[in-house]
This record gives sequence, structure tokens and C-alpha cells, in this order.
Amino acid sequence: MMNILILGAGGREHAFAWKISQSPLCKELFVAPGNSGTSALATNLNVTVTDFEGIKKHVLAYNINMVVVGPEDPLVGGIHDFFISDNQLNHVAVIGPEKAAAQLEGSKEFAKEFLVRHDIPTAAYNSFTKETLEEGYLFLESLDPPYVLKADGLAAGKGVLILSDINEAKNELKSMLVDSKFGEASTKVVIEEFLEGIELSCFVLSDGKNYKLLPTAKDYKRIGEGDKGLNTGGMGAISPVPFADPILLSKIENRIVKPTVDGLVKDNLPYKGFIFIGLIIVDDEPMVIEYNVRMGDPETEAVLPRIKTDLVEIFQAIDSNSLDEIEIKIDEQTAVTVMLVSGGYPEKYEKGKEIIGLEDIQESIIFHAGASNIDGKILTSGGRVLAVTSLGDNFRSALKQSYKSIDNIRFESMNYRTDIGFDL
Ligand code: AMP
Ligand code: GLY
Repeated sequence: MMNILILGAGGREHAFAWKISQSPLCKELFVAPGNSGTSALATNLNVTVTDFEGIKKHVLAYNINMVVVGPEDPLVGGIHDFFISDNQLNHVAVIGPEKAAAQLEGSKEFAKEFLVRHDIPTAAYNSFTKETLEEGYLFLESLDPPYVLKADGLAAGKGVLILSDINEAKNELKSMLVDSKFGEASTKVVIEEFLEGIELSCFVLSDGKNYKLLPTAKDYKRIGEGDKGLNTGGMGAISPVPFADPILLSKIENRIVKPTVDGLVKDNLPYKGFIFIGLIIVDDEPMVIEYNVRMGDPETEAVLPRIKTDLVEIFQAIDSNSLDEIEIKIDEQTAVTVMLVSGGYPEKYEKGKEIIGLEDIQESIIFHAGASNIDGKILTSGGRVLAVTSLGDNFRSALKQSYKSIDNIRFESMNYRTDIGFDL
């Protein structure tokens, strides 16, 4: 039996709490800082995910044996290393890679160098700094449009620009490098070849040597129907991805997943945690567009409900380097998640709207994202508010169920996409 702490506050962390709280191996569950959803299943702790000293205090006070890290910030900031190097904390299992390995998400250039070094298919690229701006312009001229510009560092999902006009691309490159458009994150910029194809994400668990594949998923990032409009954190997800047939899956495993995990070992990058590999399928061949060192949100809300195996047992196997000894059982059903967001998101939106109708939902799982429990009322507190997940024999029947459940939920200016899965 273990006391477990989940770091984070979104739908992903509510999904983790939902799954972990079902485990007979979990004694007490904590979430920091959590939300109204996690507070119904666990004790929320008032500490932010990057306050390592604050987290340490709570870990010691509550005898926490395992920390599951939701978002990338604390991983890139070295939370796993912080635990290892502290005498009072080094017995605690941390699910999430060490700092050196978290650079796969923390630096796009690091990720590209890793991909090239290990011969993993990815778009051709070059990286530039303020000092090499002119070379950057020349490189852009050597490419065909559209142009893909990526801020090297963490930019809260906003650091990738895709531009069709060469002059606009040059201006943006300058604004990133010279005018610090994304602050520190755009001190370096990766420019890469545009890949045309359909996207999906694959999720992998690693104990540093062995790996297990988790279900694939696809997310819908744009705010508008038909994948139009601004990028968001994610408006919906489907797992599994219907077009990921066994042939494609075996290519993904052999050409991408295996070389990635082997590459981590060769490069001495300690990795105990989730690897989220963003892929584009070009002429039936998978190519990597990004690594994330955590689970996706809202992909987690569609992937975890399909995992039948006890998640704590899986995490213990990661901690004890024995992932090869367990079998992860997956539900054959399709899971579909639809996000309900605040009107105006991803731009300006209001908070504090009361959410009504949640208690009537039986056939879907509701994961809270930007929602808080204030004096017994559930109020909106973020852009992405709730994730509505349903399971079905196929994505259409699962979707139908999610939309039926959504009909019962209300808050002022509630918005969602009615076309999740439209492209499949
Ligand atoms: P990232 O933050 O790296 O996932 O990039 C955000 C989005 O930009 C991805 O989900 C893709 O839709 C798109 N993207 C990134 N790299 C490329 C590329 N080389 N070619 C085409 N689209 C890309
Ligand atoms: N849904 C995309 C992400 O979590 O980065």
C-alpha cells in the first residue's frame, strides 16, 4: 500500500486520480494543486507543481511513497533529480524522466539532434540564433512553403508557427530571435521542412530499459470546427485511432518507439515515465514531429479509461525496472473525449460560472479541468473546463454518448466542438 501524490491541476490529473483511486495498492491519494474533480477522490494540496521545497514538505508530512508528475514544467525543471539528490526523498518513486531526458520536450533542438543521432524518421531541419539570422533567411529561401518555425524551449504549446508566406516567415523568425517573441524559449529557433499527412500520437511507458506501448490517440487542437481557428490545449481526443492498423503500428514500434527507448539508454538519459510521441504519417510512413515527456491532455482522458490493468502496479514496475514482467490489458472499446470550454477561449474568457447538471451524468465519465469547488458549488476556473469521455464499440457510438451527456451540462457561454472525429 502506498501514499501517492499526483502533480498537476487539469483533466489529465483528474483522470490519473480517477484511475489510481481504483487501485487496491493506493492507500491515500493527494493531488497538488488539483481541482474540483480531484478533490472528490483525493486530498488537494495547496502547492504549485514547480515549488519543489513545498512539495518536499508535503511528501514528508504525508509519508508519500510515489509522485506522479502530470505536466512538463516540473520535469524539465528537474523534479526527478531533486528527489534523487535529497536524502529524505530518494526512496520516493517518481514517475517522470530526469532533467537530462526531459530535454526531449524542453528543447526542440535537443529532440531533433536525438532523432537524427538515432536515425529516427523526422523532418529535415536547421536551428538558428540571433547571430545566425541571415543564415536563417537563406535556409527559409531554400525550402518550399509552408514554413515551420519552432521556438526551441517551452512555450506553453504556442511556440510553433506555420506560415505560407516567405516574408511573413522571415519577419516571424526575426521577431522570435531578436525581439524574444516567446521570451527565453525563442533564443533558438528550429526551422523544419513541412510534412504533409495525418497526425496521431503514440504513448509509451519506459522504465529506463523496457517499454510498453499504450493505446494511440488523436487530439483536436484547433478551436473551430473543421480544424479551423486558433490552437488550443486540445478540444477532444479519440483512442484508438481508427486508421492505426497493425501494419502502421508495427512500423511505429520498430522505426520509432524501439530506437527512441534504445537511444535513451545509449545516450544515458534516465527515463522512467511516459513518452508521448507526436507523429505525422507521410505516404504510410510515420515521422516524428515532437516528443513530450508526459501524457497528453485531453489524450489521457481517452487513453486511461481503456487501460484495464492497475496503474499503480504499472508504476511500481516502472520504479523497479520490471516493466517487462507485466502485461498491460487494454479495453477494445473506443474512447472519445469532448472538451467543454469557456466562451472566448483560447483568447479572453470569463471565469467563475456555475456548472450545472453534472450529477445527472451516468453514461459518461466527467473529468474536471478548469473547475473549482467553491463553497459546494462547481465553478469554471479555466479555459478548458470539463472533459466528457464515453466508451463505445466504435468512435461514432462513443461520440454520440458524449454529446448526449453534454446536453445535460450547462454553464454560461459554454463552448465545444460538435465535429470531433470529422476527419476519420
Ligand atoms: P508541436 O508543438 O511540435 O506539436 O507542433 C504543433 C503542431 O504543428 C503539430 O501538432 C503539427 O500539427 C504542426 N507541425 C509541427 N511540425 C510540423 C511539420 N514539420 N510539418 C507539418 N506540421 C507540423
Ligand atoms: N494535447 C496535446 C498535449 O497535451 O500536448
